[in-house]
Amino acid sequence: MAGSHHIQQDVPRLLHKLLFVFSLAVVCASLYFILSGCCDFILVDTAKHLKQTSQLLPLTELFQRKNASFEKRATDVGVRSASHVRSAGATGAVGAQSANVGKDWTAARRLPQAIIIGVKKGGTRALLEFLRLHPDIRALGSEPHFFDRHYSRGLNWYRLNSLIVPLRNLMPNALEGQVVLEKTPRYFVTADSPGLIHAMSQEVKLIVVVRDPVTRAISDYTQIISKTPGVPSFETLMFHNGTEALKVDSLWSPIWIGLYALHLERWLAHFPLEQIHFVHGERLVSDPAGELGRVQDFLGLQRIITDKHFYFNKTKGFPCLKKPEGSSKPHCLGRTKGRPHADIHPQVILRLRKFYHPHNLRFYQMTGQDFGW
Ligand code: A3P
Repeated sequence: MAGSHHIQQDVPRLLHKLLFVFSLAVVCASLYFILSGCCDFILVDTAKHLKQTSQLLPLTELFQRKNASFEKRATDVGVRSASHVRSAGATGAVGAQSANVGKDWTAARRLPQAIIIGVKKGGTRALLEFLRLHPDIRALGSEPHFFDRHYSRGLNWYRLNSLIVPLRNLMPNALEGQVVLEKTPRYFVTADSPGLIHAMSQEVKLIVVVRDPVTRAISDYTQIISKTPGVPSFETLMFHNGTEALKVDSLWSPIWIGLYALHLERWLAHFPLEQIHFVHGERLVSDPAGELGRVQDFLGLQRIITDKHFYFNKTKGFPCLKKPEGSSKPHCLGRTKGRPHADIHPQVILRLRKFYHPHNLRFYQMTGQDFGW
């Protein structure tokens, strides 16, 4: 009797425990799916299904994250590869459907085929934001700093690191024909980055936004003082102390980064010059469409980003986007981009200009381009 009474009491307790363990398992499984990018599976499955059925129309939905205005542009121009799908979907063109049969529409997280490697304060954020308008570019929003800080985590982390930094540092899903792009301006000046990037891919396309090194240094310093109060003056940091008092301290980071020829030399030991595209930082402001045209050519993409996408915002003093990716409202870059610079004495600027002159000439020689600084 006593035994069966115990059993009667134990059964509900056991059931409770089982229910608890089951709920915990469901919660853990859900968390795992969220952190490891469950959206991948949804996208991949959808793409696989479409591949099997050759139904092109629903793929347009996959691209809705891209600039909404692309729908019109895609029907205006015959867009290559992934953007082809939208074009076909929008027009319902049977010919386009048959041309796409047999292509692999599976979206996957891929290693980048193009990297904006520098330079800090050159205009790298503007370039990335502008390039995101292109339907054949899938760009990572944040700077992964893989080759300069996290290389020991391995290439798989670089590609799929959602578990480490949930939903932030993911390589975006990309279809065949789309170019995966990331930007980390510090790569340009880190000794090991050229070799490590080359070990990942010999074909990767490299982009460097270069800007007058004098203005770049002042921009860099402006950023430093905005973050750290009590920093000594620009001229105090720019010159060596003591006996070499009038010698420019080329190891001070704002000066060091602007020695473009020196850094480029290390890249040219691993990559041919044709694989590196230089964006003219000043022209990125005065003629963004022109600079973007050349970048699209370099990446082998159709020129889809044109002057129609930009307007000059007089208050900001910079070009802004009429419709950024995923929005229909005009958008300028944030307050830390295009801000007023620290006041530097003209004599100091002149001294810095003289310092950079031979380095700039060497850089023009190496690249075959005169940037006019
Ligand atoms: P300043 O803030 O010194 O003017 P990065 O993104 O590489 O840090 O570069 C920042 C610089 O991008 C800004 O430096 C600014 O001059 C430049 N830039 C180029 N195009 C811009 C744009 N459309 N809007 C804002 N800044 C732009």
